[in-house]
Amino acid sequence: MVTVRGFTFSSRPNMKLSFFFLLQFTVFVLSCFAFSLANAGNVTYDHRSLIINGQHKLLISAAIHYPRSVPAMWPGLVQTAKEGGVDVIETYVFWNGHELSPGNYYFGGRYDLVKFVKIVREAGLYLILRIGPFVAAEWNFGGVPVWLHYVPGTVFRTDNEPFKHYMEKFTTFIVNLMKQEKLFASQGGPIILAQVENEYGYYESAYGEGGKRYAMWAASMAVSQNIGVPWIMCQQFDAPDTVIDTCNSFYCDQFKPLSPNKPKIWTENWPGWFKTFGSRDPHRPPEDVAFSVARFFQKGGSVQNYYMYHGGTNFGRTSGGPFITTSYDYDAPIDEYGLPRFPKWGHLKELHGAIKLCEHALLNGEPTHMSLGPSQEADVYTDSSGACAAFISNIDEKNDKTVEFQNASYHLPAWSVSILPDCKNVVFNTAKVRAQTTVVEMVAEDLQPSVASPDKGVKALKWEIFVEKVGVWGEADFIKNGFVDHINTTKDDTDYLWYTTSIFVSENEAFLKKGSQPVLFIESKGHALHAFVNQKLEASASGNGTNPPFKFKKPVSLKAGKNEIALLSMTVGLQNAGSFYEWVGAGLTSVKIEGFNNGTVDLSSNAWTYKIGLQGEHLGLYKSDGMDNINWLSTPEPPKEQPLTWYKAIVDAPPGDEPIGLDMIHMGKGLAWLNGEEIGRYWPWKSSVHDKCVKECDYRGKFMPDKCFTGCGEPTQRWYHIPRSWFKPSGNILAIFEEKGGDPTKISFSRRKTSGVCAVVAEDYPSFELEPEHENGDVSTKNNAAIFLNCPKNTRISTVKFASFGTPTGTCGSYSKGECHDPKSISVVEKMCLNKSECAIELIEENFSKGLCPDATKKLAVEAVCS
Ligand SMILES: *[C@@H]1O[C@H](CO)[C@@H](O)[C@H](O)[C@H]1NC(C)=O
Ligand SMILES: *[C@@H]1O[C@H](CO)[C@@H](O)[C@H](O)[C@H]1NC(C)=O
Ligand SMILES: *[C@@H]1O[C@H](CO)[C@@H](O)[C@H](O)[C@H]1NC(C)=O
Ligand SMILES: *[C@@H]1O[C@H](CO)[C@@H](O)[C@H](O)[C@H]1NC(C)=O
Ligand SMILES: *[C@@H]1O[C@H](CO)[C@@H](O)[C@H](O)[C@H]1NC(C)=O
Ligand SMILES: *[C@@H]1O[C@H](CO)[C@@H](O)[C@H](O)[C@H]1NC(C)=O
Ligand SMILES: *[C@@H]1O[C@H](CO)[C@@H](O)[C@H](O)[C@H]1NC(C)=O
Repeated sequence: MVTVRGFTFSSRPNMKLSFFFLLQFTVFVLSCFAFSLANAGNVTYDHRSLIINGQHKLLISAAIHYPRSVPAMWPGLVQTAKEGGVDVIETYVFWNGHELSPGNYYFGGRYDLVKFVKIVREAGLYLILRIGPFVAAEWNFGGVPVWLHYVPGTVFRTDNEPFKHYMEKFTTFIVNLMKQEKLFASQGGPIILAQVENEYGYYESAYGEGGKRYAMWAASMAVSQNIGVPWIMCQQFDAPDTVIDTCNSFYCDQFKPLSPNKPKIWTENWPGWFKTFGSRDPHRPPEDVAFSVARFFQKGGSVQNYYMYHGGTNFGRTSGGPFITTSYDYDAPIDEYGLPRFPKWGHLKELHGAIKLCEHALLNGEPTHMSLGPSQEADVYTDSSGACAAFISNIDEKNDKTVEFQNASYHLPAWSVSILPDCKNVVFNTAKVRAQTTVVEMVAEDLQPSVASPDKGVKALKWEIFVEKVGVWGEADFIKNGFVDHINTTKDDTDYLWYTTSIFVSENEAFLKKGSQPVLFIESKGHALHAFVNQKLEASASGNGTNPPFKFKKPVSLKAGKNEIALLSMTVGLQNAGSFYEWVGAGLTSVKIEGFNNGTVDLSSNAWTYKIGLQGEHLGLYKSDGMDNINWLSTPEPPKEQPLTWYKAIVDAPPGDEPIGLDMIHMGKGLAWLNGEEIGRYWPWKSSVHDKCVKECDYRGKFMPDKCFTGCGEPTQRWYHIPRSWFKPSGNILAIFEEKGGDPTKISFSRRKTSGVCAVVAEDYPSFELEPEHENGDVSTKNNAAIFLNCPKNTRISTVKFASFGTPTGTCGSYSKGECHDPKSISVVEKMCLNKSECAIELIEENFSKGLCPDATKKLAVEAVCS
């Protein structure tokens, strides 16, 4: 049907083969092509690229971490990545999810690595396996099992025998597993690259001589595994020649591998950023992501991986930090819930198609660099057949610029790259987003009871509760003068550790008579704390993502005689990176009470009684078979604003098939489960209203995570993803542990619903038709600019809310007509789109009055409702 050299097509599916259709077509063709390759091939490389089965390859890769979603989502995520123009799926391997105790391995459920790799293979994609096994990844303890910290004599990530022993053992285990299943490309499988260690270069010097020895050992240990595909090390500035060193950053166009015989590989391009509880919501604009990718390929790059392409969810207690949110959405091209994020996903899909049109010239051509101005340049690749591809860029952060290139003139928006697969026609500019955007809502669904109420016979939500004792429950674990380290004590089996003591207050204390309050003064290494005095919650405090230690003062009520002080200390995800990060502790360091007749009383060296974990955790209240757990107490009305309370309700699955988020805005802080599956930590902690947020993000100029925040004064995370596959039609057990107090009757499921689509395109941003007769694949015939709308599956365009050809302004949801407006716009768009799940609207004279206001560059903006 098709040959993929240049753009030569032996048959045309459609006379009007627009660039868009071509893109889709190309992606399809390339995937078929990839499929045949994905099943067999040795992987080598030269200075230009990886060579798979003898073919040089340009590869777009997408990070999707298997335990950050569920097996039922994997095929869809991989398919959405493939439709987005991706060739490779990349994942870390999560050691502490797999080796639960020394030699005790787990590969079930979300940790079924083999199944994940096979799903990627079945989709015809390649896979990059970043074994680590230290991974950072905003993952608890950087992926290293906590038990390893307690193997005597162990120091992580240096020339240390126990660490190297366990690291080699796990790496070998994973490699053997992959070999057994024939998953390396050398065995006909999809794995084309493997990574050992992770971003160690930043920290190596902190470990002195041992650091360097360790890095070299890690490389040779990996290479000796004999996997038949190359090993990479990212951000490893002294990587030995046996491995390929790679780049992680927001931009890697200037990166040069250590050796001239190595290809230029970008293992982490961050298309967004992670969130910490209490902070704002960072966004990286799609124009800048596309710019960085285009610049990388312009400058000779050959493998680019989005970290993350789907960020997903830190289920249970897997998030690192401290304070990394349960959501790991990352503002990635596929959102946490598995839906393509528009326009980012669509814009990058077009970019990938444009780059693929250049693949042959890029990989086989000789590059010529041309300066076109102070901040403007072209890189031109011409191969022996005469095929030519060019990338022209304007890295000026403020000013658009018109440049002359090969006798033609090109308008370049500030901070943008234009891609010319034939060195003449621009098929894509990174700053011009014509991909559709979507209107996404969280539609609340009250919890629907699953059981009939015994007396009324009607369905009523049946709540059961269990109230934790304040302080030590059951037998104390130990008593000690002074403080122990929190993590050393819990070993991370739980977030929770009780520190309790008492103080005797004499009747002569002046504050008792005056009715004033003494002040409790607490200092902690982190992460969070609830302070109870005589059973009453008096204060809650925590550090934050940039500063886990905290201290606070709070007036408290004391009575004459014995007063009980019970402090519930909590971790919120263990440290996941940094030199010697495993030694960073947590928990109380000082407890004082100010305002006694004799001054301040220091309780720090008191006898403290310790209890690890909660009674409810010990009883397994959250487990799916915990339904009949005798400890639950039925209650017609669940208590509100009550600390240390477990809640349980039996609910039906929400209707529809949209992804589900659990709305916890009316709750305090705690943990949640559905049918025994761990949803994770919830904490709708609001960022400060005084922080800086942007309404619209200026994509121009270097991106940093603090550039484009939204969500000031809102909870960092309000909704908590519950995968659809965890629901049964009815009889689902929702279990919540609330620490501070909340209103469980206000908990709801929210359906993540795409309710509308929008798109804008200007008439001077045409799509292109490729001239099929031209052997060298000239992109010659200009098409018209066009809009493509696509509603989610099983929905259709029911209303055209807005359509204006002319000079409309505003953004999706708030478009308005400009001075220039073609009154036919609505009826034209309705005729083309109503009742269709997808439609294309070309800006052609037959449909729109192109002669209207001739001095303006006109555009078409459309907003439509999908239902
Ligand atoms: C890979 O290369 C090895 C050694 O050159 C060769 O024996 C093997 O057949 C090749 N494998 C494939 C799948 O081409
Ligand atoms: C540009 O124009 C000059 C002068 O007419 C001509 O010699 C040259 O070949 C042209 N270059 C290209 C790339 O078309
Ligand atoms: C100070 O007063 C408190 C409370 O009455 C008492 O517990 C403590 O022992 C006193 N300390 C000293 C040093 O007298
Ligand atoms: C984190 O805590 C530190 C110290 O209390 C404070 O200076 C900083 O502003 C806080 N950061 C955020 C993001 O709240
Ligand atoms: C944890 O315990 C170990 C072993 O006793 C000790 O070396 C280390 O300093 C402790 N960590 C902290 C943070 O106190
Ligand atoms: C728009 O143009 C196309 C192609 O000429 C034509 O088939 C269609 O009927 C036109 N639509 C409207 C609403 O005029
Ligand atoms: C769209 O479908 C609805 C319901 O099927 C129908 O009533 C309506 O006439 C259709 N509209 C158009 C423009 O085809």
